Amino acid sequence: MIEYRNLKIAILGAGSVGAQVASLLLEHGEELANRVGAGLEVVGIAVRDLDAPRTAEIPRELLATDARSLILGADIVIEVMGGIEPAREYLELALTSGADVITANKALLATHGPELFAIAEQVGAQLYYEAAVGGAIPIIRPLRDSLAGDRVHRILGIVNGTTNYILDRMDRDGDTLEQALAAATELGYAEADPTADIDGFDAAQKAAILASLAFHTTVAVDGVHREGIRTVTRDQVVAAQRSGFVVKLLAVCERLVDPETGRDGVSARVHPALIPAGHPLAAVHGANNAVFVEAEAAGSLMFYGAGAGGRQTASAVLGDLVSAARRHVVGGPGVAESTHADLPILPISSVSTRYQITLSVLDRPGVLAQIATLFSEHGVSVEAVQQSVVTVGGGEDEESAGATLVIGTHRATEKALAATVADLAGSPVVARVESVLRVEGL
Ligand code: HSE
Repeated sequence: MIEYRNLKIAILGAGSVGAQVASLLLEHGEELANRVGAGLEVVGIAVRDLDAPRTAEIPRELLATDARSLILGADIVIEVMGGIEPAREYLELALTSGADVITANKALLATHGPELFAIAEQVGAQLYYEAAVGGAIPIIRPLRDSLAGDRVHRILGIVNGTTNYILDRMDRDGDTLEQALAAATELGYAEADPTADIDGFDAAQKAAILASLAFHTTVAVDGVHREGIRTVTRDQVVAAQRSGFVVKLLAVCERLVDPETGRDGVSARVHPALIPAGHPLAAVHGANNAVFVEAEAAGSLMFYGAGAGGRQTASAVLGDLVSAARRHVVGGPGVAESTHADLPILPISSVSTRYQITLSVLDRPGVLAQIATLFSEHGVSVEAVQQSVVTVGGGEDEESAGATLVIGTHRATEKALAATVADLAGSPVVARVESVLRVEGL
């Protein structure tokens, strides 16, 4: 029997996520109320345009254009409008007025997270954001709560569905980047301006959130090294297949030792990478997301599922709503952020990983030896070399004039690798550095 007063819920935004949150909450309100031990009363849904088309039917009397009045009368505010302003201002108002806040807004958290968490702590309110990374996939709670007693070493995440869809088409359907992007746009995965996805901005925001949680350290989005997928070619994807890899856009968050100071630090980066075809992340197809976590005691864990979609993301928002509402009813310490470790954020030059470098070279005696010398001069250890001879010219005089070398390295620092690649590019025996890709997950 429910004896607690009804909790008042304000929803800000009725776009693809907001409309589904409202619709599911109205549909399953009684069941959720039983889980919470209090009625959940939607006091209103703030929208800019009362007549805009919605993906779910919402009673018109719940729609309102005055977000501030709704916020001031609410126990719990759900922000699913996106963007920085006015979302930031509304969340600040909600928190300072004592409401708990649930948000799916990764851009806001990655840029203004620390100040919002500070306000929440000051007033004793809670800020929940399971839906901000990986859509429906539970990853925030596992990192914050389930793994709170462990030590996370590394996270490898496929956290952008659009780029995964594009790279997967290039891998499995033989598309070029342009063809795959056109298909992603047609299906509604990519926006008309696909920059946020394909240049890695969306993934970098998610990497900042994951790294902050995993390493108990504030990681701002500016501290995340970012490279998108615009330069990935079909040739690279085919070459990767031949050597037993797939190309994925990865968010890599690592705790590592700074080679300059010998002290622990955090690296967060987003870039295309080769992963072994047998790695669990290689089996993440289409627009799905997955986050692979390596922790000291737990070992390897993978969280997989739909990383976007209105209804799927609404599932994560409603999970947060039940948690927030239960805290009103039964109390509890809430979900304070922990940034006690305060580790330094290391630049990409401090990272060490493995690389695969593809070179077009002249095919004549001594070339391999000269190239091997360049690697060794920079302390980069070669693990494997594959050569294929490229024949150019025609007719009877045809002779082999060039070769393609695919060189895999052992672990090396970005700094040493960059110096090696610069020397390779300037070497008289190298016609072209065709591709340099990091290798992760080995
Ligand atoms: N545009 C994102 C993606 C979904 O493609 O995964 C929202 O974060």
